[in-house]
Amino acid sequence: MTVLGIETSCDETAVSILNEKQVLASVVYSQIREHAPFGGVVPEIASRAHVEKISPVMEEALRISGIGLDQIDLVAATAGPGLIGALAVGFSFGKGLALSLQKPFVGVHHMEGHLFANRLGAKEPKPPFVALIVSGGHTELVDVAEWFQYRLWSRTRDDAAGEAFDKIGKLLGLEYPAGGRIAQLAAKGKRDFLSLPVAMRGKRDFSFSGLKTAAVYEVKKHSPEWVLENLSHICASVEDAIVGALVEKTLSAMQALGRDRLVLAGGVACNQWLRAKLNEAAQSMGFEFSAPVPAYCTDNAAMIAAAGLHRHLSSATPAGHASIFPSQDWYSI
Ligand code: KG4
Ligand code: ZN
Repeated sequence: MTVLGIETSCDETAVSILNEKQVLASVVYSQIREHAPFGGVVPEIASRAHVEKISPVMEEALRISGIGLDQIDLVAATAGPGLIGALAVGFSFGKGLALSLQKPFVGVHHMEGHLFANRLGAKEPKPPFVALIVSGGHTELVDVAEWFQYRLWSRTRDDAAGEAFDKIGKLLGLEYPAGGRIAQLAAKGKRDFLSLPVAMRGKRDFSFSGLKTAAVYEVKKHSPEWVLENLSHICASVEDAIVGALVEKTLSAMQALGRDRLVLAGGVACNQWLRAKLNEAAQSMGFEFSAPVPAYCTDNAAMIAAAGLHRHLSSATPAGHASIFPSQDWYSI
């Protein structure tokens, strides 16, 4: 079965073609340049850019894969959550395409898509496992008893991990999205340079807004020259605090749930310090750890096509998934 996947929930216009065996094409047009002058994603600009790019991005994916539209068996598109105007572009385009091809259409929950990025590699993780899903909009620990059977264990009470990276990066004068740049600078810095708080110690949920406030106070205490001179140390301390909170709560969740497998997903899963710390814990505590290749961690359509394909094959269709207004919750139990 050949699937065409579409992702337009935020600031990436992405189309992918895949079958059960491999990704044949994954094209991602990033709108970073359109949004960078504003220091964050502007919803109206995102919607307009998706309208402009969706057709050329699809043409490119078809060209790379060597697949014709007449060979597509299924169309999948992100149904939510995300920016409503941005979602509507990809979702309507996908539904229209499916209708014209007279093929089935599947709406995919964006976070489930992130999780399914783990099924694009050579070695698929097998449930049961705990999933740590960390993106610009979400930070969630989910108990995955089976594919399509999810139970939310914890989530952030305020900012998501990626959002914390981005907001602190903005404060430090780094371009949006700042996660990757902070990680790059942190590699040369001292992790104990600043003492930053890990919030909600001993609790299941995450909170990153206090960390952001602490960083604001630290930066305001000093001159811009001091910040510039110590930028790599500040970034290393920030990265360490965010990663520390993620690792601590993940290990507690695994222990409480009695799971011996951990699966990472979402844009922040690109972070090498996070991967290294989770790998270290896996080695010393004897659990299995897996994460997608970085290209499938940040928003892309291959993960959406994979989730759509497996949903279609399993005919697991929880309420809301065919709608542009899906439930914000994607855990079924
Ligand atoms: O999953 P994603 O592409 O989009 C959402 O669904 O939100 O995640 C984007 C987030 C951004 O906040 C970005 O700063 C963060 O992932 N990110 C990183 C790294 N690469 C991307 N955060 C930390 N370290 C990285 N290397
Ligand atoms: Zn995402």
